[in-house]
Amino acid sequence: MATEAVSPQLKVLITREQIARRVTELSAEISRDFAGQSIILVGVLKGAAVFLSDLARQVTLDATFDFISVSSYGEGTESSGEVRLNKDVDSSMDGKNVILVEDILDTGLTLTYLRKVFLAHKPRVLKIAALLDKKPRRIVDVPADYVGFTIPDEFVVGYGMDYAERYRNLPDICILPPELQ
Ligand code: IMP
Ligand code: MG
Repeated sequence: MATEAVSPQLKVLITREQIARRVTELSAEISRDFAGQSIILVGVLKGAAVFLSDLARQVTLDATFDFISVSSYGEGTESSGEVRLNKDVDSSMDGKNVILVEDILDTGLTLTYLRKVFLAHKPRVLKIAALLDKKPRRIVDVPADYVGFTIPDEFVVGYGMDYAERYRNLPDICILPPELQ
C-alpha cells in the first residue's frame, strides 16, 4: 500500500525496507542473547502489535506472546505521566525471560511504570524492546535493551502507531505534520 495514497501530507521518516532490516537485526540479537532458552514477548497494545508480530516471526527461540494494555491520562499527543493498567498479562511471569515490546519510548513515563509492574511479577530476566526512541523528549531515564531507531522530536504514525486510532496500518513510519494533529 502506498502511504501517499492514504494521506499525501504524511512524510515518510523510516521506510518499510529500513524497518524490515532493523527488525531482522533485533531478532538476531534477541535470539543470541537467549540462545537455548524460552522467552515471553509481551506487547503493549495496540501500538506494538505490528512490531511484535514481525519480531516474533524472526526470533529462533521457543517464544510465547502476551499483551497488556495501558492508557495514560491526557489528550492528544502528550502523555500526562499518570498511567493506568487496563489489561494485565494472562500468563505467569514468575521465573521467566520476559521481553516487554513497546512501539515508542517517548518521555519514558509509561515504560518506567510498566517496569515496576513487571518486576513485581518476579521474572528471571526483564528486557525492554522499543522500536523507536524519541530521546530529546525523555523525562525519566529508562534502560531500553533493544532499540530500533532513534528519532527526532516529531509525532510519528504507521507500523502500528496511531494518531486518534488512525494510520496504524501504514507500512512505513511517517511524520504527522502539526496541521494534522
Ligand atoms: P511515554 O510515556 O511518554 O514514553 O509514552 C510512550 C507512549 O506514547 C508510546 O507507547 C506511544 O503509545 C505514545 N507515543 C509517544 N510518541 C508517539 C508518537 O510520535 N506517535 C504515536 N504514539 C506516540
Ligand atoms: Mg504505546
